[in-house]
Amino acid sequence: MSYIATFRAAFAATVLLSSVQVTAAGTSAETLKAQYQRPDNIPFPADNLYSAEKAQLGKMLFFDQRLSKNFNMTCATCHNPSLGWEDGVPGAFGGQGKFLERHSPTILNMAWSDSFFWDGRSPTLEDQIRGPVESPNEMNISMDEVVSRLSKVDGYREIFQRVFPGPGITGDGIMKAIATYERTLVSGTAPFDRWVMGDEQAISESAKRGFEFFNGGGGCSDCHSGWNFSDNQFYDIGLSSSDEGRKAVTGNAADQQAFKTPGLRNIQQRAPYMHDGSMATLDEVIIHYIAGGTPRPSRSEKIKVRPMTVQQITDLRTFLESLTGDDQPVSLPILPY
Ligand code: HEC
Ligand code: HEC
Repeated sequence: MSYIATFRAAFAATVLLSSVQVTAAGTSAETLKAQYQRPDNIPFPADNLYSAEKAQLGKMLFFDQRLSKNFNMTCATCHNPSLGWEDGVPGAFGGQGKFLERHSPTILNMAWSDSFFWDGRSPTLEDQIRGPVESPNEMNISMDEVVSRLSKVDGYREIFQRVFPGPGITGDGIMKAIATYERTLVSGTAPFDRWVMGDEQAISESAKRGFEFFNGGGGCSDCHSGWNFSDNQFYDIGLSSSDEGRKAVTGNAADQQAFKTPGLRNIQQRAPYMHDGSMATLDEVIIHYIAGGTPRPSRSEKIKVRPMTVQQITDLRTFLESLTGDDQPVSLPILPY
């Protein structure tokens, strides 16, 4: 049985592979590069292991309008593969025609995150899914109602029975399947990765300087660390926004206006930026870090005044642009009715 789609949505740019050259190791850049190496496998939790059919089922559910009350939304409405798995607007456009306060984050590389939402209020990728489904301003439907809708569809009953023998269609199964699909969404190999693997020509001299500054005087790697460029911690970086962020989860005044460090893979395709989508360009983001926004007790101590020359700003941007992975065409699933 094939649910592979007939329709293909293409990503933006294609990146030409240049021939790989291995350079001598030992420079400080070489030591740094090792910290950003792409992982070999995707981690899956013991209570929700991967299977190809489970991921395929999750993909169907991700793109299925029956997960919204008025059949007007899918997960992809706000996490659109053609827009870096985001939606291109500052606050997400909700199900009832209202804009939400927060910006839709990418769902790339979620397998490496250990809490979910900008404020980290959800502990697992499975648990996160109930949020948008049941939120009145988003898909606006109870998980029980989704279960009863899907239970009327022969095709879904068969697949769920194979993937979850016994219980068949349940809210738990829906969340496990979608989370499994999400974990398979990994940003493609970028010019930066080819450079890390030894191809000196893969990125420009400007991007190389940007990488050094990112890890040095720019202070960026104090928070944007590891292959996905996130330490999965929460910081107030001095943005002017009335959203209390992580404090709503912990009740701790120190977490006022703190948000999860976003990963930076494919960042060029993911404007606008920040939890409120308040910054339109990467230059705007970089320039924010020169003064570090509003000084206040909750602002992270890692945010300092960081003088930057015009050249350094350009270098940082060029480096961030080198994190855009190769095209990965996304086929749409054929849904059972
Ligand atoms: C109306 C737009 C909208 C829809 C529909 C939607 N999301 Fe989201 N999603 C968002 C917004 C906005 C956030 C951030 C909300 C917050 O942090 O409070 C988010 C956050 C997330 C996150 C957390 C990412 C992170 O870095 O922590 C994941 C994962 C996610 N959504 C997956 C899904 C899935 C799966 C569906 C379908 C069941 C879905 N979303 C439907 C807008 C949407
Ligand atoms: C103190 C930790 C910290 C430091 C240092 C830091 N960042 Fe961030 N960065 C964050 C957090 C947290 C956010 C999200 C803030 C929000 O939305 O409220 C963010 C957001 C971003 C974004 C937008 C991502 C998105 O998906 O919208 C970019 C790009 C970025 N940072 C690049 C940088 C660069 C470049 C530097 C160095 C000049 C840097 N960061 C330094 C923590 C940090």
